[in-house]
Amino acid sequence: MTRDKVVLAYSGGLDTSVAIRWLQDRGMDVVTLTIDVGQPGDLDGIREKARRLGAKTHVVDARREFAEQFVLPALQANAMYEGQYPLSTALARPLIGKHLVVIAQKEGATFIAHGCTGKGNDQVRFDLCTTALAPHLTVIAPAREWGMTREQEIEYAKERGIPVPVDNGSPYSTDENLWGRSVECGVLEDPRIEPPEEVYNWTTSPAAAPDEAANATIHFEGGKPTALQGRRLEFVDLIASLNELAGRHGVGRIDHVESRVVGIKSREVYECPAATVLVKAHQALEALVLPRDLLEFQRSVAARYSTLVYDGLWFTPLREALDSFVASTQERVTGDVSVKLFKGAATVVGRASPYSLYDHALATYSQGDRFRQSMAEGFIYVWGLPARTWAAAGEKAPTAPKLLKAAKRAK
Ligand code: ARG
Repeated sequence: MTRDKVVLAYSGGLDTSVAIRWLQDRGMDVVTLTIDVGQPGDLDGIREKARRLGAKTHVVDARREFAEQFVLPALQANAMYEGQYPLSTALARPLIGKHLVVIAQKEGATFIAHGCTGKGNDQVRFDLCTTALAPHLTVIAPAREWGMTREQEIEYAKERGIPVPVDNGSPYSTDENLWGRSVECGVLEDPRIEPPEEVYNWTTSPAAAPDEAANATIHFEGGKPTALQGRRLEFVDLIASLNELAGRHGVGRIDHVESRVVGIKSREVYECPAATVLVKAHQALEALVLPRDLLEFQRSVAARYSTLVYDGLWFTPLREALDSFVASTQERVTGDVSVKLFKGAATVVGRASPYSLYDHALATYSQGDRFRQSMAEGFIYVWGLPARTWAAAGEKAPTAPKLLKAAKRAK
């Protein structure tokens, strides 16, 4: 009889290492897949660890794909979940999910596994990817089934010779990629308490950040960042450099009580220096080159897009349709934005574009004003016609505004 084969998303951490043994104990051949999405860590070491636990291993460098195919559309949509979180973890999930399916096909596996618990968003995202891309595959989430506490897991690992990571004393659960770092658990579970400095890893404390501000100048072409400080860079490298620069100035710390898909409110801390700066810069450039009605409509698209990505609905026709819409608005989003980085704050301080709608002769209050102010009166007469008609028709209504009644009486 051939044994069942399962492809496991493997990070090298305790949960997924225990998962290898747990799946093997259930008679399965385990193939691991580790994806480089720009997280720090020694991928060779992770591969070696999986091998020693008896798994066949795959490692895929998907940094560029992540930046171009997942982060860029989200940036162009100005995606910020609940107005706060640039969706760094959420965006990496469909990419990992897609690669899991590809490897499962290559390996002839019928199962896919991940290390998510039953309380979070990530299980929803991974499971929905498989449902959308390869419904014939079955998903196993060992941590959803085994019912072990952290302590029992460590015990399980020790009994079976699974190396327990040295940082296991850390009370925090973290997830990292190019677009940001997520931290949960430990004292963060009390939303009244300020996050201790130790939860941060990518950012200098704003208090300890340089006393001298730095300006990040970002060049966009058709809505895509293509140069930083005048130097052309591939998007993936631009994000990495900007994480470094903005992180040094304490930019990108986010402390948020978040509404999870499964209904739980959870306290999350993020470090997203590059994402914070790039979304602000992109919005500032759009404000310069796009008309008001389009900007307003874009804001509703951004909110919808963010929820959709957060909820694990990446591989859906709605996401594709929204991407097409957003892409169609980016042609003129070309130009330079300057963002001042100073002690934790990122402030847009300058913008320029060949497609700028800003007309100095129209805006100025000084010499050279070309705006015909006398025309405003007629404009307001017509613009206010509905309000005037409404007020006249409502004079006798019981709920007519008091001011209107008083004015009537005074006549
Ligand atoms: N709450 C965030 C999200 O759902 C981050 C989850 C981070 N995962 C983790 N293992 N710490 O996108």
